[in-house]
Amino acid sequence: MTGRAHATIDLAAEGATISRHLYGHFAEHLGRCVYGGFWVGEDAAIPNVRGIRLDVVDALRALDVPNMRWPGGCFADEYHWRDGIGPRADRPTMVNTNWGDVIEDNAFGTHEFMDLCDLLGADAYVNGNVGSGTVQEMSEWVEYLTRAGDSPMSRLRRQNGRDEPWRVPFWGLGNEAWGCGGNMTPEYYTSLARRFATFAKNHGDNTLQRIAAGGSDDDVRWTRVLMESAMGGGAPFPVPSPFQSISFHYYTHSGSGIGTEPATGFSPEQYFRTLAAAADVERIISAHEEVMDAYDPERVIGLVCDEWGTWWHVEPDTNPGFLFQQNTMRDALVAGIHFDVFHRHAARLRMANIAQTLNVLQAMILTDDDGGLVLTPTYHVYEMNKGHQDAASLAATVVDAPSWEGADGKGSTTLPLLSLSASAKNGAALLSLSHLSADDDLEVRIDLHGRSASVTRARVLTADSATAHNTPERPDAVAPAPLAAQISDGVLEVRLPPHAFATVELALA
Ligand code: AHR
Repeated sequence: MTGRAHATIDLAAEGATISRHLYGHFAEHLGRCVYGGFWVGEDAAIPNVRGIRLDVVDALRALDVPNMRWPGGCFADEYHWRDGIGPRADRPTMVNTNWGDVIEDNAFGTHEFMDLCDLLGADAYVNGNVGSGTVQEMSEWVEYLTRAGDSPMSRLRRQNGRDEPWRVPFWGLGNEAWGCGGNMTPEYYTSLARRFATFAKNHGDNTLQRIAAGGSDDDVRWTRVLMESAMGGGAPFPVPSPFQSISFHYYTHSGSGIGTEPATGFSPEQYFRTLAAAADVERIISAHEEVMDAYDPERVIGLVCDEWGTWWHVEPDTNPGFLFQQNTMRDALVAGIHFDVFHRHAARLRMANIAQTLNVLQAMILTDDDGGLVLTPTYHVYEMNKGHQDAASLAATVVDAPSWEGADGKGSTTLPLLSLSASAKNGAALLSLSHLSADDDLEVRIDLHGRSASVTRARVLTADSATAHNTPERPDAVAPAPLAAQISDGVLEVRLPPHAFATVELALA
């Protein structure tokens, strides 16, 4: 069967800039994200640059990775940075209590992470330890990384082979303080965040965006307490806030809880419930925004979603603590839906980091220890969507589309089967469309207003089923292909197959 959908886009109504940092990444010391993912060591047979996997760097460069968050996650609140500097043979070990209870040998530390960022051309987002670290420890880490000239920490950095300071624009003040980061109350954490932020100084011309750890999902209590503190109780704020952004985390599953359902062998019901849960991120962001707007209508404080993505049951015969999962066409649609929402909320949402870049949860790339890698369907969404980075969001509205009616785990819901967003930059526009039907084609008509346009390229990502995924044997089971798209009399027409993500690039006159 074929469904029909109608949408409009105003190519002249440019809204907020979509920060490139909405396309941010996350490297945690968890499972095979760092070890066996980014890091193989200088002596490995796998081609590497100073120990960092070259094939991974090459693949990620094609995504224009804007920032990388590190070292966690939960791991950040038990990480002590001094363990990860100096000669590797002398570095102490620790137990990674959060993730598999394995021994961490600290081979990948501060210098290796900053090297990775340099290789990727990505900004560093370093997540400090508030849960089990000290203020002095965090303060000295900032000094070690960013201070030029002569100082105790810059001298130590030089002894370890790095003369110039690095640029570090983003600094996390702990992680999930309500849980693995210390089981704190929002009030207690807010005081701590103020204190830690105060001593995470700007050195020279390095200006930190300090990110306070907020709540999960729609737990806006954390946002409220942090905003109250940041903005002086709603009055014109007496001193600049010691932190500049507030984070929240949102993981997608189909209603039974994180980590409980299969990544690949899912039912049609689970497919739709998952996509409805992904679309629910709009309600969640709006809830945080509503609280923030009440204290800060000028949007001085940013909202950051520094962990998001699908969380399925681990693959059979893998360590349950390593969170290794496959990634299907369904995951690609989850990403497409999130980005449409992120683009619509770009005025307040300043950064987002998918969990996680390699081998963990909704990864871009799955590596194997023999030197092979697989690009996931989610990778292709990042590549097809990269033109939205730093573009102006455009008003894009789905006027009419088929929908799915069902229950999403929180109650009954209606899920439109078309999700859409658009942006403009440098005389070009990029449209993203996610078609969610499991079975039907969709004829889409989009009225283009404001400027005349011609199609320069259109691509579609789909496969013969929503459970399709890439493997070493079939690395291109889900890969982008050309899509027919034409404009006549200001109407763009495309026909989308089932469970498909598509992008249309336009030249604007
Ligand atoms: O991404 C995996 C974990 O999920 C992170 O370490 C933690 O912050 C969250 O609970």
